[in-house]
Amino acid sequence: MKILITGGAGFIASNVADEYLQQGHEVAVLDNLSTGFRHNLNPKARFYEVDIRDAAGVDRVFDEFKPEVVNHHAAQMDVRKSTRDPVFDAQCNILGSLNVILAAVRTSVKRFIYISTGGAVYGDVPKKDLPAAESYPINPISQYGISKHTVEHYLYLYNRLQSLSYIVLRYPNVFGPRQTPHGEAGVVAIFSGLLLDGKPCTIFGDGSKTRDYVFIGDIVRANVLALQTDFCGIVNIGSGIGTSDRQVYDAVAAAVGTKLQPAYTTVRPGEVEHIYLNAARATKILGWKQGVPFPEGVRRTVEYIRTVERQRAEKS
Ligand SMILES: NC(=O)c1ccc[n+]([C@@H]2O[C@H](COP(=O)([O-])OP(=O)(O)OC[C@H]3O[C@@H](n4cnc5c(N)ncnc54)[C@H](O)[C@@H]3O)[C@@H](O)[C@H]2O)c1
Repeated sequence: MKILITGGAGFIASNVADEYLQQGHEVAVLDNLSTGFRHNLNPKARFYEVDIRDAAGVDRVFDEFKPEVVNHHAAQMDVRKSTRDPVFDAQCNILGSLNVILAAVRTSVKRFIYISTGGAVYGDVPKKDLPAAESYPINPISQYGISKHTVEHYLYLYNRLQSLSYIVLRYPNVFGPRQTPHGEAGVVAIFSGLLLDGKPCTIFGDGSKTRDYVFIGDIVRANVLALQTDFCGIVNIGSGIGTSDRQVYDAVAAAVGTKLQPAYTTVRPGEVEHIYLNAARATKILGWKQGVPFPEGVRRTVEYIRTVERQRAEKS
């Protein structure tokens, strides 16, 4: 199949692009390289350096590549940035996504895979209601959660109006190779980078906030399975397990082999207390289940940063 992957120079979608190519699909990547990297681009994929906010640019890509499937990962994905600059967040995540959807509808794309966030759309969920299922009320407490969720409504609408076939994957916290240790998001990579350098880490809050962590290989598999179903609607991807910030720290410290202790500071705005996701629908519809346990994923991530990231840093 001809698959256009937006955001394919970034952490998650570049791994998806590699696997789609491996499976024999023809892949093109659309990315503005704002947080993605050229070195993540698979040389077998066609690359369009385009911003999704540029409707004419997006249209040109669709007219030239003529994708059958769109896998839409491109986004401003930083919760903090969305609270600092909500207009920019909405321009990228809502208006940019609308450009991609409209181009897909105009060119009769057969299938649209949209990446949303289970970590941010549900907002603060009481522990008794966790893990959250897709039917749980949507009450985001960050602008990012609102912008990512809004696109789900457009997809529902364009399915009704123009029969656009779509699936929404609501991701948990994804971690693994290619997540940058120098970003503002991605706590496993950030802790790994700091501890490998012998530097102390800071936990925002008292360490008890919980998140649902799934290793990148399992997320890639969900994207492969999403190509094999006609299901239209929303699917949570998650482990169903809440892992606290302190547990993340301890797992990374164990993998690095350090006894350094973390510092603690105040919680940042937009951060939910607890979220983990019920992925029973993903199992039913996609046949998806988490495969790599958290500690094993952390070991692989630390190993990747110890080798690949460091070699790259030494060369540059
Ligand atoms: N990382 C996570 O834990 C997580 C969790 C839930 C959902 N998601 C979603 O997964 C997707 C990928 O996230 P990631 O962690 O790989 O982040 P990332 O920043 O590594 O990847 C995002 C990619 O999109 C590109 N991009 C950003 N704005 C763009 C624009 N206006 N036009 C074109 N390209 C643009 C960036 O250059 C980058 O390559 C995002 O949609 C994010 O909301 C991620």
